[in-house]
Amino acid sequence: MYQIEIAGGRRLAGSVPVHGAKNSVLPILAATVLGNGTSVIHGCPNLDDVDSSCEILEYIGCNIKREGSTICVDASTIGKSCIPEEMMHKMRSSITFLGSMTARLGTAEMGTPGGCELGPRPIDLHIQALEKIGVAVKERCGRVETRCDSFVGGEVHFDFPSVGATENIMMAASLARGETVITNPAKEPEICDLQAFLNKMGAKISGAGTDCIVIEGVPVLHGAEHRVIPDRIVAATYLCAGIMTGGTVELTETNPEHIHAVTAVLRDMGASIYTNKHAVLLYAPQRIKPIKLLRTMPYPGFPTDAQAMMTAALTLADGTSMIEENIFENRFRHAAELSKMGADITTRGNVAVIRGVKRLVGAPVTAMELRGGAALVLAGLCAEGISTVSGTSHIDRGYGSLVEDMQSLGAEIRKIGKA
Ligand code: UD1
Repeated sequence: MYQIEIAGGRRLAGSVPVHGAKNSVLPILAATVLGNGTSVIHGCPNLDDVDSSCEILEYIGCNIKREGSTICVDASTIGKSCIPEEMMHKMRSSITFLGSMTARLGTAEMGTPGGCELGPRPIDLHIQALEKIGVAVKERCGRVETRCDSFVGGEVHFDFPSVGATENIMMAASLARGETVITNPAKEPEICDLQAFLNKMGAKISGAGTDCIVIEGVPVLHGAEHRVIPDRIVAATYLCAGIMTGGTVELTETNPEHIHAVTAVLRDMGASIYTNKHAVLLYAPQRIKPIKLLRTMPYPGFPTDAQAMMTAALTLADGTSMIEENIFENRFRHAAELSKMGADITTRGNVAVIRGVKRLVGAPVTAMELRGGAALVLAGLCAEGISTVSGTSHIDRGYGSLVEDMQSLGAEIRKIGKA
C-alpha cells in the first residue's frame, strides 16, 4: 500500500469541490435492494467502501454499472439473501443491508460488520428495532439471521439515536404492512438524504431530521434516481487543513448548513468564515485560539467524525483545549501519533487535553483508522520537515482525492510506494 509523503509548511490557498457523502451513499446503495427495478445514484465518491458496497450488491445478484461518479443498480435480478463474512468485515455500514434485504427478500443472513476500530460497535439497537416491527432475529456465532414473520410495523424508540439503526429501520419499515413510528431517531443529514431517496422509490416517510419519523409501509418500491449530498466530514477536514496552515480555503459543491457545528468552532478558533448556499470560504487567523471544551454529540452537535481533525488543529492553539468524545469509546488513537510530531496531548478515558505548541515537526506516523489518518495528514501539512503517513488504506475508505485536493491547494504532498 502506498504512503503519503508531505513536506510541511505550505500555506494552503485556493478552491476545491467536495465529493459526495460516504455516509449517504453507503445506506442509499443498500436501499437500492428494496426497489424492483433500476436505481441511478449520482455523486458517488470514489472510495473503497463504495467498492465494497458494489461487491455486496453484485454478490447478491444485482446488476451494477458504474460510469464516473454515477452508479446504476438493477435490483430486479436479486437472488441471494446471504452476505459472506469477508464482505461484511470490510466496513461497518454493511449492516444496513440487513434492513433492506430482510424487507425485500423476507429473510437475510450475514456476519456482523467490520469498520474502524473505535471501541465496541454492537448491533443491539438494530436488532431491537427490527424486532419491534415484526422481524424475527437470531444472532449466533457472529452471524445474524432474520425472517419476516408478521411484518406489520410498530413503535420504535431509541434510547440512543444510532445512525445505522435508524437507517436500517427506515428501510425495513418502508415495506412493512402498517405504520412505524420512530422516536428519538438519529437526525444526521444523511438520514434526511435516505428519506429523500426512499420516497423517490415510492416509500411514504416523513419527519427525518426531527425527533419523530413516521413510515407508512407500502407493498412495493421501484428504482429511483438520486444525487447524494456533499460529504460534510470531508468539508470539515479541508477547513481544518486551511486553519492549520494559516491558509485561505474555499470549498465549493458543499452544504454549509450541514457543517454549522464545525464552522462555529472554527470561528471560535479565530477563523473568518463566509458562506453562501453551496460554498464556504475560510481565512485562517494568525494564531489559532484554544477551545475550552469541545464535546462530540449526535447531530446537530459536533460530529465525532471531525474530532480527530479538530484535535490536530488544536495542537497548534495558543493555549490549552479539551475535547470530550461522547460517541465512540476508543477514538483518540491518533493522539499518540500526533505526539510523535511534537503535539502535547494527554488522554484519559473519553477526554483529551491538548496543550498548544508553536510548531509540529515532521515524522513517520501511522493511520490506525480513517479520520485519525486524515488528522495525521493535516498535521503533516503544517509540520516542519517531512512527514510520512502509512496505513493509508484507512484513509482511502473515506477520502476520494485527499492528496490531489491538497496538491491543488498548494500543498507539497504525494503518494509514494506501491498503489
Ligand atoms: C455512523 C457513521 C459514522 C459515524 C457514526 C456516528 C456511517 C456509514 N457511519 O456510524 O461515520 O461516526 O454514525 O455519527 O454512516 N451503538 C450501540 N448499539 C447499536 C448501534 C450503535 O451501542 O446497535 C453505539 C455505537 O457503539 C456507538 C454509538 O452507538 O458508540 C454510535 O453508533 P451509530 O450512530 O450507530 O454509528 P454508525 O451508524 O455505526
